[in-house]
Amino acid sequence: MQKMETLSSLRIFKTILIILSLVLLFNIPTQAQGLLYKLRPIQHDLAASKIGEPATTKPYDYILKFLSSSSFPSRASFPSDFLFGTGSSALQIEGAGHEGGRGLGIWDDIVNQHKDVYGDVDKFPKKIEHYKRYKEDVQLLKRLGVNSYRMSISWSRVMPNGTLEGGINKEGINFYNNLINELLENGIEPFVTILHFDYPLALKQKFGGFLNHSIVKHYKDYSELLFKTYGDRVKYWTTINEVEVTSIFQYMLNIDNISTDEECKTTRKCTLSYTLLHNFLLAHASTSKLYRTKFQAIQGGEIGLVLSSGCYVPYSSKLEDVAATQRLMDFYWGWILDPVFHGNYPKIMRKLVGNRLPKFTKKEKKMLKGSTNFIGINYYTSHFAIYEPNRTKSIGDSYDALARSEVFNEEGKPLGYKDQYAWNYVYPEGLYNMLLYIKDKYKNPKVYITENGVASTKIPNPLKDEHRIAYIAAHINATKAAIDDGANVRGYFAWAAFDTFEFQAGYSGNWGLYHVDFNDNLKRIPTDAAKWYRKYLTHDLRD
Ligand code: GAL
Repeated sequence: MQKMETLSSLRIFKTILIILSLVLLFNIPTQAQGLLYKLRPIQHDLAASKIGEPATTKPYDYILKFLSSSSFPSRASFPSDFLFGTGSSALQIEGAGHEGGRGLGIWDDIVNQHKDVYGDVDKFPKKIEHYKRYKEDVQLLKRLGVNSYRMSISWSRVMPNGTLEGGINKEGINFYNNLINELLENGIEPFVTILHFDYPLALKQKFGGFLNHSIVKHYKDYSELLFKTYGDRVKYWTTINEVEVTSIFQYMLNIDNISTDEECKTTRKCTLSYTLLHNFLLAHASTSKLYRTKFQAIQGGEIGLVLSSGCYVPYSSKLEDVAATQRLMDFYWGWILDPVFHGNYPKIMRKLVGNRLPKFTKKEKKMLKGSTNFIGINYYTSHFAIYEPNRTKSIGDSYDALARSEVFNEEGKPLGYKDQYAWNYVYPEGLYNMLLYIKDKYKNPKVYITENGVASTKIPNPLKDEHRIAYIAAHINATKAAIDDGANVRGYFAWAAFDTFEFQAGYSGNWGLYHVDFNDNLKRIPTDAAKWYRKYLTHDLRD
């Protein structure tokens, strides 16, 4: 009897414990809300990158072997209208910063004020002189065999002080007219970014730039000018490049001189990135609405926006790390994708950020929902995600997400292999998984991979970039695998066409398929990766 009594009170105690833990589990932010994210292996012959492979001098040898086998997806295995291209941005290659009537951009000021932070500052004004050598550059693109080129327009070049009232710069307008015509005459479709990091300094000085909602009107005026002027020929527009990177980095890199040392809750730092991104989204949505109501039917193009992507993989199998993984996906990609597909920020963000997250009005929600014809994703690498409840400072991995990204997992293993000339680990599965995640979560929208590539830092000979061939090939393979599994991917752009000004790294990264020799009159020389890409796209085996 006594035993029976003890057993039943034990049972009651156990039941209470279970109920209590369930209640707790559903209330703590470690909960895996609507967990969708599962890491899937690529269902292809190539396990393009092996988790935890030790770094060797040629960790990508197995990719090169696969590349020469018949299993590697050929150009012909992609649809014929698939865009295969490469890209750049005005800020990073044009030069002529003070010529042709161009006004100052925010980056002229940032680099000028932080000369110690940015590399090759002496080369910043001239860059690779694309402004003057664009005809030659278009011929080089043609030689690559690409059918599309991702370029951006410098707002300061066409509207020097950022506003219509401030005047339009004819010379700037003509430059892009000529560039677009030159591309089209050479069979290359321009894929145009309206804002790639840089915008007129005057707007920042006047009212804080994108920190102020007033910018939305000016951004819309600027975009309307572009649609009117170039929209008869440009069929692919993207509103803003990497909205989240711009918002986070602005404060991570301390561009506005806000102290990085103070705790998040007490500083503007952890509020301002949300404000910035909010205004970026509203600028995107109102411009997209303008294009879609006034220009699309006549001009027949499409408009999207670009985010920087990367998958998160749980640091360990603990529920709190799995949940942290989903939260980072929501805090980075959901931050943008939920508003443009569903009209509002993810629930978890609203809950954890609270008052610091701006709210959309009803009208804005309506305008945002469905405000994009496609998503552009820039993919470079992926990270592990770990639960981090006591974060107080950096916003980089979102203090608010109660999570942090990690390069190594619990067992000390990285994702993929370390590229010997780059900062990052090479993990094409991340791209594949990202594409399938977008497909499943947002009803399979059209996607363009608007950037993918790798640096050649400290490489003995920048022309011998075999590691880049492996990188690009492995990601083309991952793209094809995602398409085969139903993802609606329509294009791939290797970053970058030419060596670009890479912010803190200056020109040391040698990002270009065409290397630019600063000691020889900025001569453009195709690297081995450029030659490989051309052979891949055109079957042209000449060097
Ligand atoms: C992206 C950016 C590009 C380029 C690239 C390589 O974030 O959009 O402009 O800098 O990274 O690091």
